[in-house]
Amino acid sequence: MKKLKLVATQETLFTVEAEAVVLGIYSDGELEGIATELDKANNGLIARLIESKEFTAKSCELIQLYSLAEVRAPMVVLVGLGPKAEFNRGEAFRTFATASRLLAGKEREKVAFFPGDDWKGPEIENAVAGIYVGCEGQDLYKTEKKRYPFKEVIWPCTEKNLPMSGDIIGRAINMTRRLINEPAQKIVPEVMAQRAKSIADQHGMEADVWDEQRLEAGRCGALLAVGRGSVQPPRLVILRYQGAPKEDAPTLALVGKGVTFDSGGLSLKPSDSMKTMKSDMSGAATVLGAMQAIAQLELPINVICLFGLVENMPGGNSYKLGDVLTARNGKTVEVLNTDAEGRLVLADVLSVAVDQKAAKIVDVATLTGACVVALGTDTAGLMTNDQSWCDQIAKAADQCGERAWQLPMFPEFGKQIKSDVADIKNIGEGRWGGAITAAKFLEEFVADIPWTHIDIAGPAFVEKSKSWLDGGASGMFVRTLIEVARKWNSSDKKK
Ligand code: BES
Ligand code: MN
Ligand code: ZN
Repeated sequence: MKKLKLVATQETLFTVEAEAVVLGIYSDGELEGIATELDKANNGLIARLIESKEFTAKSCELIQLYSLAEVRAPMVVLVGLGPKAEFNRGEAFRTFATASRLLAGKEREKVAFFPGDDWKGPEIENAVAGIYVGCEGQDLYKTEKKRYPFKEVIWPCTEKNLPMSGDIIGRAINMTRRLINEPAQKIVPEVMAQRAKSIADQHGMEADVWDEQRLEAGRCGALLAVGRGSVQPPRLVILRYQGAPKEDAPTLALVGKGVTFDSGGLSLKPSDSMKTMKSDMSGAATVLGAMQAIAQLELPINVICLFGLVENMPGGNSYKLGDVLTARNGKTVEVLNTDAEGRLVLADVLSVAVDQKAAKIVDVATLTGACVVALGTDTAGLMTNDQSWCDQIAKAADQCGERAWQLPMFPEFGKQIKSDVADIKNIGEGRWGGAITAAKFLEEFVADIPWTHIDIAGPAFVEKSKSWLDGGASGMFVRTLIEVARKWNSSDKKK
C-alpha cells in the first residue's frame, strides 16, 4: 500500500496518460457524459455492445476494450454500475473495487478512474476507498503476487479537491484486512497491542496498554482466564481520540473482540472450524481501522476504543469446564464451554468501557457461528439494549451498503444463561438462538449504557473471492463505524 498515491488530473478520459482508464456505465437509460463522447468517437461501439448484450452494465460487470479511437490510454475498462436509481455509496465502493481488482492483477503504474457526472462526495469517497481495497488481497506471503497496487490512482479533479477522505478510508480498511490476514503465529496479543500503539502514536491518539499485572489489578478475571491456556500473555488496549471542541463532550466507545487465535481451548474445535480462526481478532482490527480513519479525518468528537487481546489455547494452565470466574464487574460466571471465550473477553472490556464513562457503546465481534447460521455469511447481526442507538447503527450500515440485520433480545433468552452455581454461565441451553444468548451474556456487562453489539462472524472473513474482494479478511464494518462516528454529534443533540 505504500505504492498507492491519489493523483489529480485536469486531463480527460481521452487525453489522460495512463495504462488504463476506468469508466462506469449505468444499466438503464441513455449513455451519459463522457460515455456518449467515447461512443461517438468509436462509431457507436458502446451502444452496440449494450444492444447485443455483450455488455449489460449490471452491477460489477466488466469489459476490457483496447486501442479505442481518440483515447490515449491503451485500455479502457467499462464497469457496470447497475440501474441508476439503485446506485449508491455501496455500489460505488463495490463497482470501482471490482475494476481495480481486475487491473491490479498485473503490475501497472498509472490507472485513471472516471466517476459519473452526477456523483457527489459520498459516492466519490467510497469509489476511491473501493479502488484501494481492490488493489490488495491475501497474497502477503506469496512470492509471486496476485495483486499489484498501482503507483498512481489518477482522479479527475484539481489538486485541492482530491478526495482524500476516500484515501484515508481505503487505507484504514486495508490496514484492518492486513492485520486479519496475517497468520496468528505473527499477530499474537503483544504484537497486536504494539501495532495499535504505533497507530495511535502516528495519528495523535493516546494509547494505554494493560499488561497482565495491570489486568490483575483491574480485576479482569474473565479475560485473564481465557488467556491462561496460552503461552502468549493477554493485553487490553485503550485508545483515546479527543477531537471534540469541548473536553466534556459525550464519548463514543468502540469495543472489539481480539482473540488472535481461537483453538476453542479445552473444548477444542475440529480442524475444519479452526482453519480460519486467525480471523477471531477481526472485531479488534475493525475498531482499530475505524479509529485510524476517525483520527485522520479529524472528526470533531471524542472516541474511546477498547479491545481485549488473548489467544484461546488448551495449555496445561488452561481454564476448565466447571470453573467459576469473577468478571470485572463482580458477576460470577460458570464456564461450561471454553470455546465460548469471546463473550468472556468482552465482558471485562465492556465493563472498562462503562467505567471510562462512555456515553454509548458499540462492540464488534466474531462472536458466534450461530449468527452465521441465522443470517448467512454476508450479513452481520445487530443486538441491542437501546433501540434508537441500534437504529442509528443500522442506518449507517445501510448507507454504506454493508449488510446488518437486527435479532431480538427477548428476556426469555436471558433466562438460558442463568447458572445453578454462579450468577450466569457462558453458554445457553442447547445451540438454538446462540447469537442471542451470547448477546444476552454481553448485556450483563454494559450497565445501563446504550449499547449495540455487531456480530461479524459471517462477513469478517470470506472464504471465496467476490468480484470486488479477494478471499480472506473483508474489512467490513470499518466504513459503518466511521459513518456512525460522523453522525455522532447530531445523534447526541437529539437526546
Ligand atoms: N470465534 C467463534 C465464533 C465464530 C465461528 C467466528 C465461525 C467465525 C466463524 C466463537 O468463539 C465460538 O467458538 N463460538 C461458539 C460458541 C458456542 C461454544 C456456544 C460457536 O459459535 O460455536
Ligand atoms: Mn470460540
Ligand atoms: Zn472466538
